[in-house]
Amino acid sequence: MNIVFDSSKCTGCGRCARVCPSSVILFAEQTENGGRKVPRAENVSACIECGHCVDVCHADAVQHESFPKERIHDVRTDMLPTPESLKELMRSRRSNRTITDKPIPADVMDDLLEAARYAPTAENSRRVCVTVLDLADIQKVEDATMSFFLGLAMLLMNPVVKPFTRLFLRDLYDEAPELMRFEKRWKAGERPCTCNGTRMLVFSAPKGYDFGWQDCNLAYQNASLMAEAHGVSQIYMGLVQTALRFMPAAKVRVLLRLPDNQKPYAIMSLGIPAFTYARYTDR
Ligand SMILES: Cc1cc2nc3c(=O)[nH]c(=O)nc-3n(C[C@H](O)[C@H](O)[C@H](O)COP(=O)(O)O)c2cc1C
Repeated sequence: MNIVFDSSKCTGCGRCARVCPSSVILFAEQTENGGRKVPRAENVSACIECGHCVDVCHADAVQHESFPKERIHDVRTDMLPTPESLKELMRSRRSNRTITDKPIPADVMDDLLEAARYAPTAENSRRVCVTVLDLADIQKVEDATMSFFLGLAMLLMNPVVKPFTRLFLRDLYDEAPELMRFEKRWKAGERPCTCNGTRMLVFSAPKGYDFGWQDCNLAYQNASLMAEAHGVSQIYMGLVQTALRFMPAAKVRVLLRLPDNQKPYAIMSLGIPAFTYARYTDR
């Protein structure tokens, strides 16, 4: 890793050292350049390549091997959302389940993936993998989820175990009628568990990685807000994730097209809604 400082540009403000999470940048007390303090990089193998030093420098004096010029952009402050506009988006966002067959434009999908990529990750480890599933894949996920829950519902409603499930698994027992309604819709050609989504994003991280849940769900949230901004419906796939937890890891990986050793931590169903909501309620 190579980090160099252009002493002809550096103003000696010290911001790069202050923002470095790994304390790789030090400000020496040496008085070169007409009395200005000069930064230097030490122990660069500890650099986590977060790019803070490059981004914070107003003088464009930090040259980081991982961030060539074409990867550096000025912040368009005029384009940032105001607190009010962001608040309005968050208040009005909904899990809109009226998904139609209309395809999601490719550039919108690109925006969602880019949004996911900009989410924070623990120690900038960036180990989240986002897999995009198409309709044929989604149908397989739907069928596997539905089959799992139908098996569960049959068990719950079995006359022999019913008194016990009613007593000890009250929550699951209460879900049984809803599952039966789902079965009807499923048999009619709908995809109730996946909310008729036309695309699905699977956020996964390596098995055994300590921050898989956190990193994947932060990436999810970024992508979900981008979906809302584009008027695309997004729904968190809790039912699917519950069903997948009871399936062998190898089967889950095939079903979700995950690379080896990846574990899914968040799943998003996506699609173009039939209509949008006119109001939001206080929550
Ligand atoms: C962890 C989690 C799991 C969820 N699972 C499902 C699901 O399987 N199916 C579904 O239709 N909605 C699911 N949702 C969406 C919630 O039902 C929804 O967020 C909630 O009812 C509030 O509505 P809103 O998102 O429109 O504000 C889930 C949400 C979360 C956070």
